[in-house]
Amino acid sequence: MKYTVMMPAAGSGQRMGAGYNKLFLKLDDKPILAHTLDVFEGDLACEGIILAVKPDERQAIQSMLEQYAITKVTAMVDGGGERQNSVAACIRAYKGSGIVLVHDAARPFIRRAVINELVQVAAEHGAAIAGVRAKDTMKFASAGVVEDTVDRDKLWIIQTPQAFRYTLLQEASNKAEDEGFLGTDESMLVERLGHPVRIVESTYDNVKMTTQEDLVFGEILLNRR
Ligand code: C5P
Repeated sequence: MKYTVMMPAAGSGQRMGAGYNKLFLKLDDKPILAHTLDVFEGDLACEGIILAVKPDERQAIQSMLEQYAITKVTAMVDGGGERQNSVAACIRAYKGSGIVLVHDAARPFIRRAVINELVQVAAEHGAAIAGVRAKDTMKFASAGVVEDTVDRDKLWIIQTPQAFRYTLLQEASNKAEDEGFLGTDESMLVERLGHPVRIVESTYDNVKMTTQEDLVFGEILLNRR
């Protein structure tokens, strides 16, 4: 089943401490962004990629696309102040009515099998998100003091991709914007509509490159594959 990817790539990467957009940092001599784009470039089911970029990085990213022969980027839109704003810009730029995936540019290790399952489940049920089960004991705490221990069997650590029927995502995004609601993922916006969101089990190595330690882990993952 075909799908289009909306990829926010307009962050500042402050937690990485590189002084510039972390997506330009290299893993095995290739920028993180190029690694992530490659996954979708090589997936026959992917019809196009809508990238949200910072206006002053547009030129550098265009050059990156040429250097790494990425041909599926159909639109580059200006990102916004928050991740949700960047995704909203992608949503506005999409012209179709099919299944769309939102995927962080900072997650280069997503597996095609997970992508394909997300697309299938979203086509059937409207919304599907990638996640892994919590492995550690999880507690609620206030000011460093435990309040409660959570039932771990019900806890999932949520990642991207998150897949949706476009019309559902569009409605959720418009409602959030109208009401000034800011979420940390697109699922939250769809949950606010009361629409059930299914979880597709992903892999623990679908890490987001956020801090310097993630880069070390990323190099190891690349070498292992
Ligand atoms: O900062 P973080 O890693 O959580 O961001 C997740 C993704 O969202 C990254 O790929 C980043 O480039 C993107 N982003 C964005 N616009 C923002 C903030 C983050 O496109 N304003």
